[in-house]
Amino acid sequence: MRLPIIAGNWKMHKTVRESVDFARQLMIAYAESPDRRVIVAPPFTSIYAVAAVLMGSGIHVAAQNLHDKQAGAFTGEISAAMLVDAGCEYAIVGHSERRALFGERDDVINRKLRAAISFDLRPIFCIGETLDEREAGRTFTVVERQIKEGLNNFTADDIKPIVIAYEPVWAIGTGRTATPEQAQEVHAYIRAVMGKIYGDSLAGLLHVIYGGSVNPGTIGGLMAQPDIDGALVGGASLDVESFVKIIQF
Ligand code: 13P
Repeated sequence: MRLPIIAGNWKMHKTVRESVDFARQLMIAYAESPDRRVIVAPPFTSIYAVAAVLMGSGIHVAAQNLHDKQAGAFTGEISAAMLVDAGCEYAIVGHSERRALFGERDDVINRKLRAAISFDLRPIFCIGETLDEREAGRTFTVVERQIKEGLNNFTADDIKPIVIAYEPVWAIGTGRTATPEQAQEVHAYIRAVMGKIYGDSLAGLLHVIYGGSVNPGTIGGLMAQPDIDGALVGGASLDVESFVKIIQF
C-alpha cells in the first residue's frame, strides 16, 4: 500500500509573509489525514518560517534544490545540512527547470541525491522527457538513462527514502497534462526499471508521482492509475483552495 503523496512546488513565488499566510490557511483548510502525505516546497527564503508554522501539523516541507557539498566556499548555495536545520524533510532534486536552465546534468543530480540521503533529507527525484524526445520515440530511453545515471552507485537501502517524480517537460506549465494513460505507461516503465535493478518487492514500495499541469480537474483520473502514487503540483499549488482540492482528490 503506497500512501498518496501530494506535493506543491512553489518555484520562485511567494514572499515570507505570503508563504506563512498560505501555510496557516492550508492548516485550516486541510485537517491532517492518515491517508495522504502532503508536502509544500517554498522558496529558500520562506522555508524556516513555513516549517515553524507547520510544525506538528502533519504537513511536510521540501526544498526545491540543494548543493551537494556540506559546507564551504560555494557562494549562493545551500547544503542538505542547512535545509534539515531549517525544517525540511524533503528536497526536490533534478527538476527539469534545473536541468534546462541551470545546466544540471545527471552526474550533478547523482551527487545531490547522495548529499540529500546522507542527511536524511528525502529526495523527490525528477525525471522526464522533452517534447522532441517524446516525438522521436525516446521517452523510455531518456527516463531509463536519467534513473540509471541519477542513481548510479545507489544501493537498495539508499533508494528506500527516494520519491521519483515523472514530469514530462512538455506538460510543465503548459496546461497540457499528460493523459492518465500516457502517464501510467511511463510510471509502469519506471517501476519496471527500478524492479530490474533493485528487485520487484522494493520497486513495489517505491512512490512514483506525476507532475505537469496537474489541477483539481485532472488529479482524479491520474490517481485512478495503478502506478501513479501522487502528484508534484506547480501552478495549481499556489492557491490554497485549488491545492486542497487536489489533496482531496
Ligand atoms: P505545473 O503544475 O505548473 O505544470 O508545474 C509542474 C512542476 O514543474 C512541478 O514541479
